[in-house]
Amino acid sequence: MKKGSKYTSKPVSVNGTVNWTKSENKIWEDLVKEQLPQVRDYACREYLEGLQYLNFPEKEIPQLPDINSILAKMTGWKVEAVPALINFDRFFELLANRRFPAATFIRRRKEFYYLQEPDIFHELFGHCPLLTNKHFADFTARYGQIGLNATHKERIKLARLYWFTVEFGLLKQGDLWKVYGGGILSSVGETAYCETNQPEHHKFNILEALRTPYRIDIMQPIYFYMNSLEELEQLSEELIMENVHKAMELGLLPAKFPPKSA
Ligand SMILES: [Fe+2]
Repeated sequence: MKKGSKYTSKPVSVNGTVNWTKSENKIWEDLVKEQLPQVRDYACREYLEGLQYLNFPEKEIPQLPDINSILAKMTGWKVEAVPALINFDRFFELLANRRFPAATFIRRRKEFYYLQEPDIFHELFGHCPLLTNKHFADFTARYGQIGLNATHKERIKLARLYWFTVEFGLLKQGDLWKVYGGGILSSVGETAYCETNQPEHHKFNILEALRTPYRIDIMQPIYFYMNSLEELEQLSEELIMENVHKAMELGLLPAKFPPKSA
């Protein structure tokens, strides 16, 4: 995990609201304008249903209490404001308690298309619609619980599972790949790219996913798809931990990308 952040979360009032500036709201508005047509084409059904339930304002950054009242009713989740980066302990503890961490800052204009750190657009627009779905919501809470009980080395493997599911996961719906991963759904460039023939699409295999190297600063060379979100929910603690241990023994598969310094 990265140690420092160049962004700082904005203060949250006692009511849970953030005083966003005009220019911050304008960045949200422009991001939504670019990304909404894309997700309509490429996102999975469940995400689009969630988007309707949450009914985000298009011209200003949504306030967390508004989202939370809907999530609470549907799946018992809420979004919790956090500093820009949090450690593994806090991350897993929040998920286990159905609290989705969101740093209260939005990217600057010059990082409009690409930002390595998860900002509020990524957390709200990318992830929250799926938190209205029971299968996704239950899996994410279980994942938090598993992480809470894991050792540091196990957590490093668990982070890889999260990467290839919650962040970059695809579903096969009909003959098409559809996106449920929030890392893709909040990225204007990657949303269309992930469904082209450029990257590889592998049927989700937990051991393979746990052994697949990734870089956070490039478009992914491999995506894993499932047939449904039920398949995600069915990943039991036993199965996950058994495969985490196997992956620890076997090590990583060869990378499909050049090293960062190349
Ligand atoms: Fe994320």
